[in-house]
Amino acid sequence: MSTQTPTQTEESNETDAEAEVPSKGDERREEKRRRAAEERSRRQAEEAEKAAADEETVELKVFRYDPEVEGKQEPRFDTFHVPFTKGMTVLDALMYSRDTYDSSLTFRHSCRQAVCGSDAMFVNGGQKLACKTQISELEQPIRVEPLPHAEVRKDLVVDLEHFYDQMEAVEPYFQTNEYPDGELEEQRQTRENREKVKMSTRCIWCSACMSSCNIAAGDNEYLGPAAINKAYRFAMDEREGEDIKQKRLEIIEQEHGVWRCQTQFSCTEVCPKDIPLTEHIQELKREAVKNNLKFW
Ligand code: SF4
Ligand code: FES
Repeated sequence: MSTQTPTQTEESNETDAEAEVPSKGDERREEKRRRAAEERSRRQAEEAEKAAADEETVELKVFRYDPEVEGKQEPRFDTFHVPFTKGMTVLDALMYSRDTYDSSLTFRHSCRQAVCGSDAMFVNGGQKLACKTQISELEQPIRVEPLPHAEVRKDLVVDLEHFYDQMEAVEPYFQTNEYPDGELEEQRQTRENREKVKMSTRCIWCSACMSSCNIAAGDNEYLGPAAINKAYRFAMDEREGEDIKQKRLEIIEQEHGVWRCQTQFSCTEVCPKDIPLTEHIQELKREAVKNNLKFW
């Protein structure tokens, strides 16, 4: 039998209930803790987002020069931040910068697949095709400059007139005095001969090799690696015949021809089509010696 009276029980329950109700001070402390936790997680989220954004942003420092606009004649570097996307090339980043930040940014490009040779530039200190150079393989910030040893027309565009003149000087086209009998007959080349000249035919006239060559930088009349490679391409083609080969050897043997090459390999290192330029130049030197011995 219970010794508690109904009145005693109610009093006791009321006392317990009062003890569970938090005081005003407790509520404020709890609210403060909750807000601090929220603020902490908001900051953490912001920092994580910023770190991710930093990681995904490419910093380009691009050479700028405009000789025609007053006030822009002093060369300078402009910085552009470009959102990184997988597979992005230097050309993609330049196009983004031009389309998003500054439509006056000037550079050449066309095929975007290492075929036309129009976007050779000086990227992080080396001659490269912008469309063939992956951003992911470069250290940042990425420095983009026009090809050295050529006059800058505007920003990343250089004057290639001299380079084209040197190419023209070696008569870079097929010539022959011996034609096949039938009108529609092809001028066939043996497999072995095709193999021999194969690499030399890959030139896309980008001028990267000429820009990298110390000899060309010091001797404006030097034919240069690309032109000599072009001469090789035809001098070694068996279909041209001996007379024309003789004429070609005379062109490359001139004072500013093959003998100027000091076998530094810089052209071979930068050629985006992997043409063994130095090897071809050396082979033409041997041909020239053989040709001269013939007349002794
Ligand atoms: S030889 Fe190579 S580097 Fe030189 S112009 Fe041709 S493709 Fe460019
Ligand atoms: S855009 Fe044609 S070679 Fe790069």
